[in-house]
Amino acid sequence: MSEAERARQAFREAFGGEPEGVWAAPGRVNVIGEHTDYNEGFVLPVALPHTTRAAVARRHDGLVALVSAQHPGERVQAPVAELAPGRPGGWAGYPAGVVDALRDRVPGGVSVLVDGDVPAGMGLSSSAALSCSVALALRDLVAPDLPVPALVDVARRAENDFVGAPTGILDQSAALLCTAGHALFLDTRDRSTEQVPLDLAAAGLELLVVDTGTTHDHATGGYGDRRRECEQAAERLGVRALRDVPDVAALAPLDDGTPQGAVLLRRARHVVTEDARVLEVVRILRGTADPAAIGPVLTAGHASLRDDFQISTVELDTAVDTALAAGAAGARMVGGGFGGSAVVLVDVDRTPAVAAAIADRFVREGYRAPRTSAVVPSAGARRLS
Ligand code: GLA
Repeated sequence: MSEAERARQAFREAFGGEPEGVWAAPGRVNVIGEHTDYNEGFVLPVALPHTTRAAVARRHDGLVALVSAQHPGERVQAPVAELAPGRPGGWAGYPAGVVDALRDRVPGGVSVLVDGDVPAGMGLSSSAALSCSVALALRDLVAPDLPVPALVDVARRAENDFVGAPTGILDQSAALLCTAGHALFLDTRDRSTEQVPLDLAAAGLELLVVDTGTTHDHATGGYGDRRRECEQAAERLGVRALRDVPDVAALAPLDDGTPQGAVLLRRARHVVTEDARVLEVVRILRGTADPAAIGPVLTAGHASLRDDFQISTVELDTAVDTALAAGAAGARMVGGGFGGSAVVLVDVDRTPAVAAAIADRFVREGYRAPRTSAVVPSAGARRLS
């Protein structure tokens, strides 16, 4: 049975009628450009083959009714007019937040069945897959005038304002704008995009995702702290965003001899060097050089996230160090940090050795068994049926 048919069947079982359609949105892996999006900088994600599917139909009773194949037996239902930040919470907050952002368009309410296979809490943007599948559905059903960038903002608002996670636009842009066989080069300030061909297989390479089995939650804790620190650094430097800092030398005024100044310098240095790394990776991929040349740039990105941004974990560091020691061309943690996954760029012939080395090391250290899979740059959000 196709994914679309499975979602239709689950919708029929939950709501007793046919959905008006089924939409899908993917998870993502960011090749490079971490914590640059809310600093108005550059990112370079690819979409994963894993998606969330949303089967959707409009209602006439003013209710939003939400069912998830991943949370069987749970049905979240509320009047559209009573949706408010945090109510409902949990997984239902993402689709509810999208409905809330478009509430004027769906006064009669809506039934939504979601079914997905983007692993949650791994730094692969399962939350954006969820919100973007529903956002695209509502765009097609009730808001055909909304251009995709506006849809990115609808999904981001759901996450920021409704769920309460202060994220940027990386994940939603990846879910809605990526195309198969390409990485999406996005300038998060002016929203300009370029689809950069990414055919690693032709170069005998593979990008692996290594899930460390540790999870994160960006609605609490460190992610918001980092965001505030970046804003403070920009303010002290008198720029609109850290994107506007031309180079590392221009960060010198942050170093005012106080511990806080030292922290702000580190945070800002990550962002400034990370923007440069995105441009460097794009330059390599646009050219004719061996794409393996991006490996050291990815590894430098990890060091920056670990030492300057300080959002890595021992599991992520271990995965990266072990992959490199086993011959990987490059490796780094991905996503918001404090857990989740690493990506490893590796010669296909070395994949088994690298995967085995990481698995062995994790056993020896007493960590949870890592799960390793290859990334195939896949399509962005779309209507399935
Ligand atoms: C999370 C956020 C994104 C981005 C990344 C870090 O995935 O949702 O907006 O900030 O972290 O690059």
